[in-house]
Amino acid sequence: MTIEAPRPSVVDVSHVKVFGIIGAGQMGLGIAQVAAQTGHDVILLDASLDLAEKGRAKLAKSLDRLVEKGKLGGTERDAVLARVRAAKDASELVTADVVVEAATENMDVKIKLFQAADAAMKPGAILASNTSSISITKLAGATKRPDFVAGMHFMNPVPVMKLCEIVRGVQSSDNTIQVLTALARAMGKTTILSKDIPGFLVNRMLIPFLNEACFALQEGVGTPEDLDLAGKLGLNHPMGPLELADLIGLDTCLFIAEVLHREFGDDKYRPASILRNLVAAGWVGRKSGRGFYVYDEKGNKTKSAL
Ligand code: CAA
Repeated sequence: MTIEAPRPSVVDVSHVKVFGIIGAGQMGLGIAQVAAQTGHDVILLDASLDLAEKGRAKLAKSLDRLVEKGKLGGTERDAVLARVRAAKDASELVTADVVVEAATENMDVKIKLFQAADAAMKPGAILASNTSSISITKLAGATKRPDFVAGMHFMNPVPVMKLCEIVRGVQSSDNTIQVLTALARAMGKTTILSKDIPGFLVNRMLIPFLNEACFALQEGVGTPEDLDLAGKLGLNHPMGPLELADLIGLDTCLFIAEVLHREFGDDKYRPASILRNLVAAGWVGRKSGRGFYVYDEKGNKTKSAL
């Protein structure tokens, strides 16, 4: 048995003013929103300026909802949005103090993005990944700043969820871990520290749980609704496992399950065939309007899809 290193001490992060966010999807926009709401300037990047601008427009809508609910003033909303700038390409990351990559879970894509960001960023700036399962050490190895690379894994939906998992790659320096920890705390999150082992801490527990619900469903042990009620009322989870899998995205759940299966070489992690089939059909959950459940255009769950 190995014992964890001491928890990182908290350092001053007032010098971290500019955040780069790579990926204007569900997670990237959530991180951008929280970063801007906690006073940081945000450079938002996607595959094109048009996609980054579309992402910024979605972020504006999310802020509007907070204004409607009386949780954010109109002036404050404008100030938060003014801190977020859509960027045309990685060269604009030159002013960033910290960059968080939140692109699709694909090693080749992430390595290319890491190399482009690394080439553009100033010396001493930290490059983090929001990956839920890809090796931080491998991503770091693709850069010329491996000691300035670590994992900064937020939970979905980022503005609501209180946890940020910090992942220490083999070469991450103590200072990188301390800065990211302090930064996550300055963004209102509680942090945990994980070694760079597949699934880290959260998904090591979560994905086998969601996958087991898929096995129970395909074996006909219960209906989707009853499995979700088992999670909600039997375990006091805010969502049942199947509706949570729909929220995360079945493609992401399958990807992480495959990483756990491959990297540990243990069949206990093999993905359920129902999960594979739904992903193959393109029914990947809430974001596609259908997964284990069917969703209307506002994203509200309407009925079981099975
Ligand atoms: N963005 C911003 N805010 C959101 C939101 C979103 N996408 N979704 C919900 N909210 C806000 C709502 O606006 C609402 O705010 P107020 O209370 O201020 O009005 C609040 O969250 C509660 O929302 P609702 O009343 O609509 O619904 P709810 O009470 O059922 O909560 C939920 C929704 C927060 C998603 C809750 O069901 C929940 O916590 N579910 C579990 C989520 C979870 O486990 N996430 C972790 C996934 S694992 C992961 O992310 C790691 C990985 O790598 C896969």
